[in-house]
Amino acid sequence: MPAFDARDIRSLQDAFWDALAGPTLSTHRRALLSRLLSSPELNVIRAAWKAGGQGVGQDPTRSDEASGTDEGFVRVAYECLLGRPADEGGLHHYAAALAAGETRAGVLRSLALSDEFEQRARGVPQDTQLCELANPAKWDNEEWLAILRDLGLADDKLSMHRKPYEFTQLVYGCRRLGVLRDDASIVSVGAGHEMILYWLANHAGRVIATDMYEGAWQNLQGREGDPDVLARPWDYAPFPYRRERLTFMKMDGRRLAFRDRAFDIAYSLSSIEHFGGMSGAVATIREMARVLRPGGVLALATEYVLAGPPHEETFQPDEIAELIRQPGLELVEPVDESVYRRYSYAPIDLYRMPYQTPHVVVRFGDTVFTTVMLFLRRVQ
Ligand SMILES: C[S@@+](CC[C@H](N)C(=O)[O-])C[C@H]1O[C@@H](n2cnc3c(N)ncnc32)[C@H](O)[C@@H]1O
Repeated sequence: MPAFDARDIRSLQDAFWDALAGPTLSTHRRALLSRLLSSPELNVIRAAWKAGGQGVGQDPTRSDEASGTDEGFVRVAYECLLGRPADEGGLHHYAAALAAGETRAGVLRSLALSDEFEQRARGVPQDTQLCELANPAKWDNEEWLAILRDLGLADDKLSMHRKPYEFTQLVYGCRRLGVLRDDASIVSVGAGHEMILYWLANHAGRVIATDMYEGAWQNLQGREGDPDVLARPWDYAPFPYRRERLTFMKMDGRRLAFRDRAFDIAYSLSSIEHFGGMSGAVATIREMARVLRPGGVLALATEYVLAGPPHEETFQPDEIAELIRQPGLELVEPVDESVYRRYSYAPIDLYRMPYQTPHVVVRFGDTVFTTVMLFLRRVQ
């Protein structure tokens, strides 16, 4: 679904032109431009330009209103887009182009599509951790956002939610670890009919979804354990997929009916906390490790308590540490558990407002928790 409509883009363009107007950059306008240049909206505009179109809507129409000489405009555009004074060659080139009828919007487009701007954008520090608590900083990471958008999910920060985070982080991590390939074999445990299965079927060799598909989950919330998916998986597909590559199987995650070392990736999202406390979760992780080939990756998303008393279907930090410590598995990197010492947050009350967003930190009563994402490598 598109995250921005043409009106959002229009507002950005208007703000951009307001900030650019005039021959010099005040501190105030410089700060405003810096925010605009690092906004997701600008990325949407640049992506559309790159794709060769006018982009979203039309070029800014307010260029004629922008004050100042053409040369002054080029100087300001260089400073804000490339972060340096215009060189003589560039200044001459663009001033001449403007004199010959090029629009100011056209000059901005050329600068924004230049290799130099691309390099500058790449130089912005980003959070790239794989093992971490659901991390709002990922919504500023272009590589990560490209995956989110490819999944067809909204990329604006107000729609931030743990579910899209889990799907995107799973793909991001498996790609970075080099295990997500077109011939990869993948098993999902407690899969329900999660949309990422269908995406993976289009990007991997074989995907097997396993779940009990019985009990309360048949009717709870989004009917995540709906057994009808076993007979008609295509009815749950959010987009066309390679049907022959995706199989759904009724199976207990604590006793996987697969041979040892059969998969490149074994993952489970928001499920093991429902498998019968620590003993059910540990049994499942051990089973997932058993069916992984050496070098294969186990990816896990589960509930991590940030504050407050123990609550069923969540894990305290020391329990997460215990879950990780299983024979034959190694964390690919230390877990960044300090994310919420860097962010302020207002936990969403899951009993009263389950669908509110942004939704990254939540609570059941006094127990405040979020998602922890873990990637472990199967060693020999
Ligand atoms: C919260 S849902 C998550 C579903 C899916 N992973 C998603 O993210 O949409 C938990 C799932 O775990 C399944 N489940 C519960 N106990 C299980 C078990 N012992 N083995 C396998 N699946 C189980 C439920 O049927 C349900 O589909």
